[in-house]
Amino acid sequence: MTSSLPFSSALVTGASSGIGEELTRQLVAAGATVVVVARRAARLEALAAELAGVEVLKADLGTRAGQDAVAARIADADRPIDLVVNNAGFGSSGEFHALDADRLGDEVELNVAALTRLSHAALAVMVPRRRGWLLNVSSVAGFQPAPRLAVYAATKAYVLSLSESLHQEAASAGVHVSALCPGLTKTEFQSVSNTAHYQSTFPEFAWTTVEEVATSGLQGVAKNRAVIVPGAIYKLVTGAGSVTPRWIKRALSGVVQRS
Ligand SMILES: NC(=O)c1ccc[n+]([C@@H]2O[C@H](COP(=O)([O-])OP(=O)(O)OC[C@H]3O[C@@H](n4cnc5c(N)ncnc54)[C@H](OP(=O)(O)O)[C@@H]3O)[C@@H](O)[C@H]2O)c1
Repeated sequence: MTSSLPFSSALVTGASSGIGEELTRQLVAAGATVVVVARRAARLEALAAELAGVEVLKADLGTRAGQDAVAARIADADRPIDLVVNNAGFGSSGEFHALDADRLGDEVELNVAALTRLSHAALAVMVPRRRGWLLNVSSVAGFQPAPRLAVYAATKAYVLSLSESLHQEAASAGVHVSALCPGLTKTEFQSVSNTAHYQSTFPEFAWTTVEEVATSGLQGVAKNRAVIVPGAIYKLVTGAGSVTPRWIKRALSGVVQRS
């Protein structure tokens, strides 16, 4: 499935669980070495013990020091990275005014500021090198506003917009930039983001698997797709959304978040 990927080295943020862990597994299976980044070092060490060619980089991307450390690893000319995946992220479900303001700030710092910093670190070496791949994890939530998941949807809209702009900018240098926009996927995201109730409210067909998301992402960025939406149902939903008036989209989104 992932046997013919063009990357021989990669760096994946948020590799200690969920989509990032699966991306790491598929990259290693395809023969790439992978630098894995997250805060939970024990999880990363376990992955490195299980898989060949995995380098652990413990970093809190919610801090400047953590962002600097990962940016420096990306910039290391002696150990070049072909593919950078900005996957680390989280959400906060609930009414905006009632959520913790510091938590929302941390969410913007990780989903937006760290991703921007590491995208810059990646393209600063890839464009002059005229070789490289950057995969930024957005969400189907980035296609429309999402009442009760407002900050998360706004951060993912930012990721989608930034990545599409960078896709165009970097194309002439032969560098691929893609936004990966998964729909509902069972990971630790639901417990971290207070959306565990989704597992009982959304039917089984609404869920994509981490395997499907990771495969779509890796194949999509290899093929230089600007926007990658895994799963037929979400391709349909986001396609229909592009011709739906914004007022209908935000009203429907509000109904979905209430369920
Ligand atoms: N699951 C879904 O339904 C879904 C749908 C659309 C988009 N997404 C996006 O997919 C991406 C991956 O999420 P997931 O579903 O795989 O969730 P997950 O299982 O909760 O994984 C999140 C990853 O981000 C890392 N992380 C969180 N805060 C961090 C920080 N401050 N510094 C460094 N790493 C940090 C976590 O590692 P540590 O806790 O060890 O640091 C973990 O490895 C996210 O960007 C998410 O928004 C998910």
